[in-house]
Order: sequence, then structure tokens, then C-alpha cells
Amino acid sequence: VARAVHRVGVLTGGGDCPGLNAVVRAVVLRCDQLGVEVVGIEDGFEGLMPETEGRARLLTPPDVIHLLDQGGTILGTTSRGNPFEYRMDGGAVRDRSQEVIDAAARLRLDAVITIGGDGTQAIALELAERGLPVVGVPKTIDNDLAATYETFGFATAVQVVCDALDRLRTTAASHERIMVLEVMGRHAGWIALHSGLAGGAHVILIPEIPWDPGKVAGVLRERAMRRAGFGLVVVAEGAAPRGETPQQAQVVGATAGHAPILGGAGRRAAELLAEVLPDHEIRVTVLGHLQRGGTPVASDRILATRLGTAAADAAWAGERKALVSWQPPDVVVVPLTDAVRRPRLVDPGSQIVRHARETGICLGD
Ligand code: F6P
Repeated sequence: VARAVHRVGVLTGGGDCPGLNAVVRAVVLRCDQLGVEVVGIEDGFEGLMPETEGRARLLTPPDVIHLLDQGGTILGTTSRGNPFEYRMDGGAVRDRSQEVIDAAARLRLDAVITIGGDGTQAIALELAERGLPVVGVPKTIDNDLAATYETFGFATAVQVVCDALDRLRTTAASHERIMVLEVMGRHAGWIALHSGLAGGAHVILIPEIPWDPGKVAGVLRERAMRRAGFGLVVVAEGAAPRGETPQQAQVVGATAGHAPILGGAGRRAAELLAEVLPDHEIRVTVLGHLQRGGTPVASDRILATRLGTAAADAAWAGERKALVSWQPPDVVVVPLTDAVRRPRLVDPGSQIVRHARETGICLGD
């Protein structure tokens, strides 16, 4: 039977994430079985601009077979370059979305598989509404997408933070210090919450719960320093004390078109705690992009592989505005609109938060 889908494009958009390459690999391997060609598009939607579309290349199984454990993305990515609000040299902003749709047509793409977070999928949805068939694959280490139970890359990030806490604990105990560890998590505190539970933090500060320096200091003084002889605090970059907004980083280099860059939540926490705990030594560590680079853990490789396989199947089946979603035990296909519906935040009343509190962890309130 002649199939309508002969060729699909695949791109990665937004911040990179361990497991992106494993998705690309699965897309190519499954499409090979289905007799569908795969074109790798570079740097997200940027690679579908007329000036760069020439860099798009066919991907075959030998190109991707080794990618299961490779961090980053062989396709490149960008957190800028929205074709609907494209920043031209000189600063003017233009809608170049039709150029993207035309480039996809010239490349004879019957669908584009867009691997990305809410920003990338919002662009993908608008392109789909203008006629470009899209199958999205949800991605973020922050794990804050409502459309899917969990995202690949999250487990790896949590493991990295957990390893860091294990290391900080021994030096904290040796010096009887309070160690503050700043981790990623712009809107949602999932990384801080999971890693704090896994790594034995005394305090976990997340964006969803404005925190009180007096309360946190009390817990550190009594439960941490007095009983354990040291203190471990995990703070998400988006967390802020009551009455304040999240700290923005002092950035160097180009940032035009990028969302505000967060950073400094750990330092701010240390400052406020030092006012209440003047006799304690406090040190701050910022993990930053260490959480995003490198080898994905096994569960992220499995999830990425299953999402990539399902995305290839969905594209082949003629889905035009869809998202593959992990709804254990299966990956299912849902409307792409689900991807941009709402973020998945930590519910302060949820059982996992209660369990944290019930094992003596302070959530800052
Ligand atoms: O969304 C994932 C994330 O890692 C956030 O936690 C963080 O705020 C952001 O990306 C950092 O992005 P970039 O690497 O572009 O500065």
C-alpha cells in the first residue's frame, strides 16, 4: 500500500537535555523499519530558514546507532530564534514562519518531529495550525510539562544533584558547615524536591513555596546543626523568599531573544540565612549546566527511545498536530495543544511534599 508519508524531518529545540540523541536515534531506527526517510534539521527551527536549510541532512541508522549514551544533541539546538518573532541582524523583529513552512516543503518533509519543551512546542503548534504537520516529543530536565507524566533528562539531572549532595555532605560534616546547593528549576521545583529527598537535604526550597528565612534558620539551627552537625539546603533557581521575586543572573555575553536567565537563588538564601545565623559558616555551590550535560541514566535512555519510536509511528500514521506523551505504562498520542496547556508544578499539598515534611525536611514555610 502506498503511504502518504515518505520523509520526515527531526529537530531539537530549547535547552539541551540528556536523552535528546537517544530520541533522534529511535526516530531514525523506527523510520528505517517503516521505509520513511529522516532529515536531520540543525539548531531547531533555525535550520528551516532559507539561509541554513542547506545544512539539513539525511540520517540513516549508521549515523545514529552509537547515540544512545551520548549527551547533548547532534542536531544542535537554540533557546532563541522563534520564527514568528525572528530577530534580524540590526535588531528588527519579523514573522518568518512562512519561510519555515516553505523550506519544509522544499525539503519534501511530510511531517516534522519537534523534540522540545513548551517554547518549542508552542512554535510547533502555530506552524501546525498554518499547515505544517507536526509530531512533538516533550523535553525538559525541569519535568514541568503537564502533558506527560515525566520527561527524559529529569532522572539524569536528579542523579547529578544527588551525587553532588553526597559529596557536599562529607565536607559539610567535616567542617560543621551549612552547604547551600543551587539547582535548576525555573518554574517548578521537581529537581530540587526529588534530589533533596534522595540526597538527604534538611531544607528544600522550590519556586512553588515562598520561603521564610526565620523558619529555615530555625530548622537549620535545631534539626541540622544541633543533631547532625551540618546542614544541607537545596534551592531551585526559581525559588524566592516571601515577598521577593526570583534572582536573575549577572550574565555575560549575548542574551538577546533569550528568556531572563535565572541565577543567584543560592547566594540570596545564604545572605538571608547568615543574618539569622551569624555564628554558622555557610557556603554556596551552583551546579548549573552540569545538570544538563553528559550521559543519560538508563531510565532516561529507555523513555527517550520509547518516545522517539512512538513519534516515528505517529508521523507515519499521518498525525498532523500531535504530541507523544508518557502515560505509564504506555506512550500515547495526545493533541499538541496539551503541550502548551499549563506547566506541571509541584503541588504543595501533594503526597510527595507531605512525605518530605514527614521525614523532617523543611520546605521553607
Ligand atoms: O528549562 C530548562 C532549564 O535548564 C531551566 O532550568 C533553566 O532556567 C534554563 O533551562 C537555562 O537555560 P539556558 O541554558 O539557555 O540558560
